[in-house]
Amino acid sequence: MPIVEPPEKHDHQTLKFPKTFLWGAASSAFQVEGNNTQADWWTWEQKAQPPADRSGQAANHYNLYEKDFKLAAELGHNSHRLSLEWSRIEPQEGQFDQAEIDHYKAVLKSLKDKGMTVMLTLHHFSNPQWIAELGGWSNAATAGYFERFVQKIVPELKDSVDLWITINEPGIYVYMAYLSGEWPPQQKSRFKALRAYWNMADAHRKAYAAIHQLIPHAKVGIAQNIQSYQPFHAHSVLEHLAVLFSDLTSNHLFYYMTRGTHDFLGVNYYFHHRFNHLASKKMKLAIVDVAEESREVSDLGWEVYPEGIFDVLADLSDHIPIYITECGIASTNDDRRTRFLIHYLQEVYRAMQAGVDVRGFFYWSLTDNLEWHRGYNPRFGLIDIDFNTQKRTVRKSALVYREIIEHNGIPHHLLRLLAHGLTTAEIKHIIATD
Ligand code: BGC
Repeated sequence: MPIVEPPEKHDHQTLKFPKTFLWGAASSAFQVEGNNTQADWWTWEQKAQPPADRSGQAANHYNLYEKDFKLAAELGHNSHRLSLEWSRIEPQEGQFDQAEIDHYKAVLKSLKDKGMTVMLTLHHFSNPQWIAELGGWSNAATAGYFERFVQKIVPELKDSVDLWITINEPGIYVYMAYLSGEWPPQQKSRFKALRAYWNMADAHRKAYAAIHQLIPHAKVGIAQNIQSYQPFHAHSVLEHLAVLFSDLTSNHLFYYMTRGTHDFLGVNYYFHHRFNHLASKKMKLAIVDVAEESREVSDLGWEVYPEGIFDVLADLSDHIPIYITECGIASTNDDRRTRFLIHYLQEVYRAMQAGVDVRGFFYWSLTDNLEWHRGYNPRFGLIDIDFNTQKRTVRKSALVYREIIEHNGIPHHLLRLLAHGLTTAEIKHIIATD
């Protein structure tokens, strides 16, 4: 006889999401299209210290978008987030290429024909080469060039766009391009970083006003990389100060600088950090190395920490509506991706129960793609891409995501996968018998 009798009845209810919830995946033009020869990143790939891979054909999404969107629709997605490649549309300063504008019209129409809600990002890391030559984002004039681009493209595409993202992750862009110096223009300069950050805030404000002038009821926001921070020692004032400083500067500063110009907030969630003042004698304050704790990590070494998405959503609960505009894992182990999806969505559900107004979830990413300077090895996709043949293969995690979308929530039999660490080989059995 067990000491504690198991309860007679388990609560096997589905964790239900609101009826209007958006379920989809995200991508960005430069990472999937291929042959973006007018972009600064392309120029940089040709001559800089070679990154892991050159973008080349990428996933050839420029030509295969119809196939990719058809797969997304078959996988149950009711929405999709994608971006424009500015350098295609305006390859030379002030010269707009109508054929490329028509291409994007066709791309967006293809999504609309499949009944999808469309979220369009206007700037996702890459720039026209001519912008780079004029000084890139550290040049104040770039905000004005971006505004002119927005004024040109929005009237052309507005019938097929529901939600607009002006700029993707300004903080990450500025950090990588002007502080760590790993991305073009590789200028390690605090002064230029501050200027670029300031100019991106200016560009967002200008774009927000321009879109609203053209479409008064438009829904416009940014996609912000929001990170979860915690102290290692609950009693350490120093660690709490580090948390406060990091949260304010990396999560909230851009939003505050541009307050009054957001109809929603896009949250890209990937990172959880703990500060431990004992971790590094040299720095006095350091981020815990999760590898030392043998925690579960992605193929990029990023910690799998589902509770972090609850924490950041709770931190933002006094904000306007939120969309999870990116959340995903780089892993060649698809069982890990399956558990990741279920577990992170369970935490999103909890945050919504706690009162956070979350309206949609876009998994990063629909397909495998160019992970910027890290090349093609990190595999984020719901759909596997063979970059030699361009063959698409739907991963099992995508089928589990479809199961969630079909239930408009997480059915109990999927939650069991978390408790037991089951493999995808066993998933079919569970779906069939539960
Ligand atoms: C970016 C994506 C990137 C993803 C994974 C986000 O910061 O918006 O372009 O691929 O993270 O690193």
